[in-house]
Order: sequence, then C-alpha cells, then structure tokens
Amino acid sequence: TGKVTLDPGFANTAACQSKITYIDGEAGILRYRGYPIEELAAHSSFLEVSYLVIHGELPDSGQLKEFSEQLRANAALPAEMRAMLDAFPRDAHPMTLLASAVNTMAAFYADTVDPKDSEQVDRATILLLAKLPTIAAHIYRNSVGQPPLEPDDSLGYVEDFLRMTFGGLSGESELDALFVRAMDLLLILHADHEQNCSTATVRVVGSSQASLYGSVSAGVNALFGPLHGGANQAVLEMLEEIRDLGGDVDSYLAKVKDKESKTRLMGFGHRVYKNYDPRSKEIKGLAAQILDRQAEPDELFELALRLEAKALADPYFTDRKLYPNVDFYSGVIYRAMGFPTSMFTVLFALGRLPGWIAHWREQRLDPAARIARPRQLYTGHAKRSYSGS
Ligand code: CMC
Repeated sequence: TGKVTLDPGFANTAACQSKITYIDGEAGILRYRGYPIEELAAHSSFLEVSYLVIHGELPDSGQLKEFSEQLRANAALPAEMRAMLDAFPRDAHPMTLLASAVNTMAAFYADTVDPKDSEQVDRATILLLAKLPTIAAHIYRNSVGQPPLEPDDSLGYVEDFLRMTFGGLSGESELDALFVRAMDLLLILHADHEQNCSTATVRVVGSSQASLYGSVSAGVNALFGPLHGGANQAVLEMLEEIRDLGGDVDSYLAKVKDKESKTRLMGFGHRVYKNYDPRSKEIKGLAAQILDRQAEPDELFELALRLEAKALADPYFTDRKLYPNVDFYSGVIYRAMGFPTSMFTVLFALGRLPGWIAHWREQRLDPAARIARPRQLYTGHAKRSYSGS
C-alpha cells in the first residue's frame, strides 16, 4: 500500500532482505556470506562455495565429504530422462534443453516438489546440484553426435563434468589439471550475485510456492538472454566478428558509440558495478595463465585486451562507468578448453545453481516474504464504449 512509484527494471527497489551476497558496486567488492570473492577464488573449491552459499557457513571436512558423496551418488540420470534428452532436436540450443530438463525433474522426482517440506527441499537441492552437470554434458554430447557418458563417482564434481563432456580427459596431464582448476574457479566466480535477473526470477516464481525445479527452470530461461548470461556467448561472437572484419577495434567502438546502430559492447557495463567487476579481474588473470600455455597466441584474447584498453581510454565508456563484466573474458577460456559458444551460458548456469537454490531457500524461510506482485502505472485508454458513440 502507499504511493506507487515507477521503477523500470527495479533499479531502486529492494524486494527482499538477504544474508547471502554483498556487493558494493562503486568499490567493486563482492562477498559471499561475508567472504571476499578473491579469498574464495584463491583457497576454496566450488563444492565448498556451494555449501557456503546455500547453508551460510563453510563446511567442516566431514560435512564437505558427506556433501560431495551425496552429489556424486546422485549424479546418474534415470534411463527415462536420458531417453527424453535423446528425443530433443540435436541442433536445439543447449540452454533451451537445459531449462526443459530441469523443469521435468519435478516429474521424475515428484516426491521432492513440496516447498513446505524441508526434507523434500533438501533432497531437491542435492538432486539438482548432482544432476545438472550430467544433464549439461549429455546435451553437449548429443549436440556433437557423440554418445553421452555416464558419471564416474570416483572422480571429483568438476573433473567428472569435464570427462563426461570431452571423454578423453585423463586428469593426468598438466593442461587437464589446469582446466579442472580453471573450471572450478569459474564456477566459484559465478556462484551468486544477489538479485540479478535470473535469481530475481527464481524468487518471483518461488514466491507463489512453485517447486524448486520450476523456479530454477525459469531462472535458466532468464539467464539465457543476451543481456544476462547469454552475454558470454555474445562476447565471443562479437570478437569473432571483429576478427573477421580485419581486427579493426576502432571502427567497432565507433559503431557501439553510435546509438543508431543499437550495438552494445558485449561484456561491458553492469547495473550494479560502476567500477571494474571483481570477477572479471580474476577471470582475466586466469585467461592469461591458460592462453600462455598454448602453442600459438590466442587471437581473440589479444583482441579482447585491445578492445578493453581502447574502451577504458574512451570518455563514452568512462563517463558512463562502463567496465568489463564477468562475461568479457570467460568465453576465451571456455573456448580454449574446447567448449562451443552455445555451451557458454550452460556453464554459467552450472555456476549460478547454488545461488538460485540459496535464494529460493532463504525466501522460503523468510517470514516477511509475500507473493511477488509488482504494481504498474496505467497509461492506456480511459473508459470507452464497445457500442461506440
Ligand atoms: N555498450 C555500450 N553502451 C552501453 C553498454 C554497453 N555494453 N552498457 C550500457 N551502455 C550505455 C547505455 O546505452 C546508456 O547510455 P545513455 O545513458 O547514453 O543512454 C548507459 O550506458 C546506461 O545503460 P543502461 O542500459 O541504462 O544500463 P542497465 O543497467 O540498464 O544495463 C547491462 C546493464 C548489463 C544490461 C548493460 O550494461 C548491457 O547491455 N551490457 C552488455 C551486455 C552484457 O555484457 N551483459 C552481462 C551483464 S553482467 C553478467 C550477467 O548479468 O550475466
């Protein structure tokens, strides 16, 4: 009740109180449950961070072992679910299939859909975290015409995801070990980001007491858009376009600055960060480390570095406080690992899953939570008559 104010994109509206993630966009600070992202990136693992984000505290070694074992024990997909994935068109976008598969988990695990039952919610939490990498790898293998692989629960979460995706991963070569660590780090950096579009979507859907699966499936669809998680794919496509036009960074930036062109510099800008995105700093360092190992210099990474340097020296970008965001450098790493661009946003979803779950669970226990129901300012016709005058 009270005065309704217009706030497009909810830029100034706090819809909830939350204890999960702290962001100071002016200072470029990001913390999960109070821990700076840089410390978690340096010392932690994705499973540890997932537990932290969802349960509020870092796990002790016994809790981490149990969590990891539960996830590994539930990684396999039932035959009916594999058959369903195999029936989807092979050339569909993996994000469309991922959202669909997550939604159908409410059908395959119908005894875990009640948001009022804590045990069911805990079970759904484990099932989602355990199966999302298996689903993602299955979708990828189908898209490249290779038989999907079963999980191997003797391997770690991230290592097994890369093995199910690429098959040949031995875990023994130095590059493989670096890729496993890089993937783990990228997942940590994506684990939560407070009320971003997909997480807000998960909360809105969950506020009607829809199931965790239905809410997360909606989150996957929100993430798919190019202004959100789809930006990592869009960045790579942009870099390829610039490369194919002879690497002319200046004329691309001129096009971006011309509002008529409706072209944005993908991977730049953020609703909250008006400074360098701290995740982007970490990812840029990681990209340099990985691409240094390659025999040939990476043309797209070089292009991205040049694009960043030029943009950050240009008043168009500095006046508007547009800096590289999380998506600017992640794609070049995924590409070096061998992922096609269509899988990039799926990787973002794997990372963001603990955040979606944590927010849905926090809202579920929040006594102040109400069904999400924004207001509007009506600008249509005043009353008119069907029968005319
Ligand atoms: N390239 C060129 N101009 C831009 C860009 C960009 N990437 N981002 C914002 N601007 C301009 C915009 O045109 C506007 O200019 P003016 O004031 O002259 O009209 C001004 O900066 C403010 O932009 P806005 O659209 O009001 O900002 P927003 O907070 O609504 O949008 C954003 C945030 C992330 C959607 C936007 O910056 C964008 O479209 N970036 C490119 C897509 C991208 O990289 N998305 C990933 C976001 S981070 C991770 C994630 O969510 O997945």
